[in-house]
Amino acid sequence: MAVENFVAYNPVKLHFGENVVKNLGKSVKQYGNRVLLIYGRGSVKKYGYYDEVVNQLKDAGLSIFEYSGIKPNPVVDDVRNAVAYGKENKVDVIVALGGGSVIDSAKIIGLGLASDVDPWDFMTWNVLPEKTMPLVTVLTLAATGTEMNAAAVLQNAETHQKVGLVHPMNFPKESFLDPRFTVTVPKDYTAYGIVDLIAHALEAFFGEGEPSVIDLITTDIIKDAMKWAPQLMNDPENLELRSNIMLDATLALNGLTSYGKVGGDWGVHGLGHELSYLYDLAHGATLSIAYPAWLRLQKERIPERIQRMGKLIFGTEDPDEAIKMLEEFFTSISSPVRLSEAGVESEKREEVINQMNVNNVSGMHHTLSMADRTMLIDLML
Ligand code: NZQ
Ligand code: ZN
Repeated sequence: MAVENFVAYNPVKLHFGENVVKNLGKSVKQYGNRVLLIYGRGSVKKYGYYDEVVNQLKDAGLSIFEYSGIKPNPVVDDVRNAVAYGKENKVDVIVALGGGSVIDSAKIIGLGLASDVDPWDFMTWNVLPEKTMPLVTVLTLAATGTEMNAAAVLQNAETHQKVGLVHPMNFPKESFLDPRFTVTVPKDYTAYGIVDLIAHALEAFFGEGEPSVIDLITTDIIKDAMKWAPQLMNDPENLELRSNIMLDATLALNGLTSYGKVGGDWGVHGLGHELSYLYDLAHGATLSIAYPAWLRLQKERIPERIQRMGKLIFGTEDPDEAIKMLEEFFTSISSPVRLSEAGVESEKREEVINQMNVNNVSGMHHTLSMADRTMLIDLML
């Protein structure tokens, strides 16, 4: 049970709870006066979150410039356009109102606004980020943990990639997590969010290092989410349930679960990103398909670790049973566990294998060979 050396750093000021948005205007004003407000394709207007946020900004005397239309599985073209629009209007602070796609885009928009570099060059590490613009986020979907971490994920149709950039410049200055803003998340995305947070905890669990207290915390986050999930699926407007899941999601990927570890594995996320890129599948849906397959592939290679997962989460010593129970949980909240359930049929097998191999999908701790990728895809079909 080795505790690896580690450095912990998280500068995000988090405002959590019902009505915390009432302090948004005051917070944003500390960072600037000309706000670039980023949001998605309309849900925030439909459900009134936009009005609450805009009123806050107006009451604080701030000027607002809007860029909307960010897509789930966000694309670099939107980031480029928002950077150009923000520069034209000399904005000095960004407010991101939405889920992971909006917040991730806003992080890279910040890097673009503070430089003359094409945003994609940051995503590929061609250019190192040196400066950014202050970012304040208002989260509307519990899933990614982006509100309190340094990651951002974007797609590029020209290079056929969906990639993530993890860099300290990406930390938001402040994030507002008001569970009221999540009660309208539809059932499918509610489930995908729960899958995503569980997958983040598992990615950390299967990273290098075995700090015993972190194993307990990490698996407790998973157990907590699994406990509330069925109730939330039947009672989506329940604020208490939304709050619990929201906190689980933030804790699953704000650095805590990597204390005492070299880092997470992230191989399953790598597989998922390629599936999202190819078939525009929701991020969480790709993970409920890929995780059971990955565990089945690794079962004989890391039996003790998978056994520990099974024991801590499901109370079973039998890895096969643990994997089955995880899969059954995903099914119980209607997240797909096979590609066919997500509308990707077996004739796509070669296409998927090729995409995974071209981008050399692998884990940071448990590497994947070409033969492994083929096996994984067969396990997912
Ligand atoms: O576009 P709008 O109208 O806003 O609708 C969104 C979108 O259709 C809708 N939605 C969001 N909040 C809502 C709502 N609908 C009703 N009521 C609300 N309160 O939900 C849909 C999905 O939104 P999206 O932002 O795409 O979802 P999510 O938060 O799951 O973000 C997914 C993205 O984050 C990346 C994923 O790869 C994916 O691109 N990730 C980011 C990570 C990070 N930065 O740390 C880590 C993750 O592993 C993940 O890779
Ligand atoms: Zn994820």
